[in-house]
Amino acid sequence: MNRLQGNVAIVTGGTMGIGRACALRCAQEGAAVAVADISDDDRTVKEIRADGGQARHIVMDVSRRDDWQNLVATTIAEFGKVDLLANVAGVVNTLTPDNVIDLTDEAWDRVMNVDLRGVWLGMQAVLPHMISIGGGRIVNMASEAALKGCDDLAVYSAAKGGVLALTRQAALTYARENITINAICPGTIDTPILQIVGPDIRNACAQSHMIKRLGRPEEIAGMLAFLFSADGAFCTGMDYAVDGGWSVNGRNI
Ligand SMILES: NC(=O)c1ccc[n+]([C@@H]2O[C@H](COP(=O)([O-])OP(=O)(O)OC[C@H]3O[C@@H](n4cnc5c(N)ncnc54)[C@H](O)[C@@H]3O)[C@@H](O)[C@H]2O)c1
Repeated sequence: MNRLQGNVAIVTGGTMGIGRACALRCAQEGAAVAVADISDDDRTVKEIRADGGQARHIVMDVSRRDDWQNLVATTIAEFGKVDLLANVAGVVNTLTPDNVIDLTDEAWDRVMNVDLRGVWLGMQAVLPHMISIGGGRIVNMASEAALKGCDDLAVYSAAKGGVLALTRQAALTYARENITINAICPGTIDTPILQIVGPDIRNACAQSHMIKRLGRPEEIAGMLAFLFSADGAFCTGMDYAVDGGWSVNGRNI
């Protein structure tokens, strides 16, 4: 499909995992893509260009406002506008056990800064431009941890819950500007972020889905492409679970 022809997307976290799949899908659907990542690994951009698409890799940290200003300015200079933003970059807490007692200020701030502040800064950076060009679409990556309690995901759950609340609030404010803002709550998706867990936990996560496997990054990218396209024009302020049925299963085993 070519539903994003003529659009320009920024995709954060675009080097690996879900962000990479989202960037590739946006390009396959016809968008020019600014692939933003803290890593300088530009494999995603190379693949898009090899397939005949338009893309540029921009190294940045989503938790830094000046990096966002540079990202938006560079994207507009190269591709003329930004009308799609995918806030995908995120981290889990690897510094301490992720529970209320063991969390440190450093661990709390690191996850909050990337997972919640990064989403706020991204929307703050693009919204004035989107308003000036007459509209846009934003999708923020939340998590199943924003929908239900998840053991050992304290600050991560708090940050992702904040992403849902901020998504709803911003959607309400900017609907009048022809801008839709939604969130996706992935189940457990087979990406490099899972490298911190062993095979037993991977398998338990797969079994916790009603569809008994891990999700694929491309399955999240498919929902993103829908929300970015004309097909998703009447959707705003919502969170869309793409989780193999995890969030509707009362037993979760
Ligand atoms: N994989 C899952 O099971 C899962 C489930 C629910 C939600 N999510 C969310 O989806 C998003 C992507 O997860 P993933 O599994 O692809 O992760 P990943 O670790 O595989 O990839 C994350 C990407 O973000 C980049 N990144 C990290 N910190 C950054 C920063 N400060 N600034 C810019 N880029 C940064 C990394 O370099 C990497 O390319 C995250 O927000 C994550 O919380 C993932």
